[in-house]
Amino acid sequence: MLVFLAGGAGYIGSHTAVELQNSGHDIVIADNYSNSSPEVIKRISELTHRDVAAYEADVCDKAAMLRIMTAHRIDCVMHFAGLKAVGESVKKPLAYYRNNIDATLTLLECMQKCDIHSIVFSSSATVYGEENPYPYVETMPRGRCSNPYGWTKSMMEQILEDAARADPRLSVVLLRYFNPIGAHQSGLLGEDPQGVPNNLMPYVAQVAVGRRDHLTIFGHDYPTPDGTCRRDYIHVMDLAAGHVRAVEYAAEHKGTAVFNLGTGMPYSVLDIVTAFERNSGVRVRYEFGPRREGDLPEFWADADKARKILGWSASRNLDDMCRDSWNWQKRNPAGYKTGCL
Ligand code: NAD
Ligand code: UD1
Repeated sequence: MLVFLAGGAGYIGSHTAVELQNSGHDIVIADNYSNSSPEVIKRISELTHRDVAAYEADVCDKAAMLRIMTAHRIDCVMHFAGLKAVGESVKKPLAYYRNNIDATLTLLECMQKCDIHSIVFSSSATVYGEENPYPYVETMPRGRCSNPYGWTKSMMEQILEDAARADPRLSVVLLRYFNPIGAHQSGLLGEDPQGVPNNLMPYVAQVAVGRRDHLTIFGHDYPTPDGTCRRDYIHVMDLAAGHVRAVEYAAEHKGTAVFNLGTGMPYSVLDIVTAFERNSGVRVRYEFGPRREGDLPEFWADADKARKILGWSASRNLDDMCRDSWNWQKRNPAGYKTGCL
C-alpha cells in the first residue's frame, strides 16, 4: 500500500515510516518541519535503503495537499501533523485549535476530492480525560480534558467519527497512544524536542548527556506505590508496528475503530530514573519538586482490544526503551542539528 504520512518527519511519524517500508509498504511524507528537520528524511532513507518522497508543505494548505494526493496513488493517510506541547497549548489555545483542527479538516476534504477512503489518526490517552477509572478501555466515553491540546484531540476524534458516519466508504482508525519513549535501535532516529523538554524521557536523557543539570520530579506524595506518578510507557518502535497493523486493518474495514496503543503496564517516574541509570550506566541527578498542574496520579491502557483485533501487542520492555533512548541521545547529543556520532 502507498501510505501518505502527514507530519511524517516527526518523532512517531519517522519511526513509523521505517516500519512501514520494512513491512513492504511505500510512503510519501509531507511536513512543514515546524517541529522536525529535513535531516530526518535522509536518515529514514539511510535506514531503509530507499528513496523517500518528501514534501515540505503545510498540511493546512489545501492546494499543496491536493497536489500531493493527485501526484501519488495514495491508499491511506496517516495523520501525525499537530502541535503537541500541553503547556504551550494553554498559553496559545487559538494556535492549537487552528493548526490541529484545520489540518484534520483539510486532509479529510482533500481525501474526499481524491477518492482516498482510509485514515489512521494519532490520538492520545489524554481524551479519556480526568474522570475515567484506569485502566482505560476504548468503550469508555471521552472525558473532560485539562488543556486545549487535549481538547483538540477529543474534537478531532469527533470530526473523524462524524465524517465516517456520513460517508460509508470511509475507514477511520483512531489510535490512542499512551506514553511513547525509546528510539530506533540504530540510534539514527529519536525524539528531538526543541527547547526545554516537556516530557519525562527526553528530559532524563538530556540530564544524562549533560545538557541539563538535573531532573525535577513533579510530586512525590501521590497515592501510588512510591509516591510518584505512574504511566504506561511504550517503545516507539512497538507503536510504529501498531500503525502498520492499523493501516492493514483500515484497508479491510469501514467506519470508525478505536484502539489503545499501550503496554498495559504502569511504571513510576522513579522506576524510569532507575531503569535509565541501569541501562546507561550514567547517574541521573534529580530533585523532588511540586506537582505539575493537570497531572493525573496514574493511568494505563487496557491493551486487549489491539491484541485481539489487530493481533498487535508491545514486545519491548522498559530496559529496551531506556537503552534505545540513551543510545539515541548519546549518539546525537544535540539532536538532529549535528551529525550522528
Ligand atoms: P512531533 O512534533 O515530533 O511530530 C509532528 C510533526 O508534524 C512534526 O514533524 C511537525 O513539524 C509536523 N507538523 C505540525 N503541524 C504541521 C502542519 N500544519 N503541517 C505540516 N506538518 C506539521 O510529534 P510526535 O511525538 O511525533 O507526535 C505525532 C502525533 O502524535 C501528534 O499529533 C501528537 O499530538 C500525537 N501524540 C503524541 C504523543 C507523544 O507523546 N509523542 C502522545 C499522544 C499523541
Ligand atoms: C503528557 C501530556 C499528555 C500528552 C503526553 C504526550 C500533560 C499533563 N499531559 O503526558 O496530554 O498526551 O504528554 O505528549 O502534560 N515528569 C516529571 N518531570 C519532568 C517531566 C515529567 O516528573 O520534567 C513526570 C510527570 O509529572 C508525569 C510523568 O513524568 O508524571 C510523565 O510525564 P510526561 O512525559 O510529560 O507525560 P504525561 O504527563 O503522561
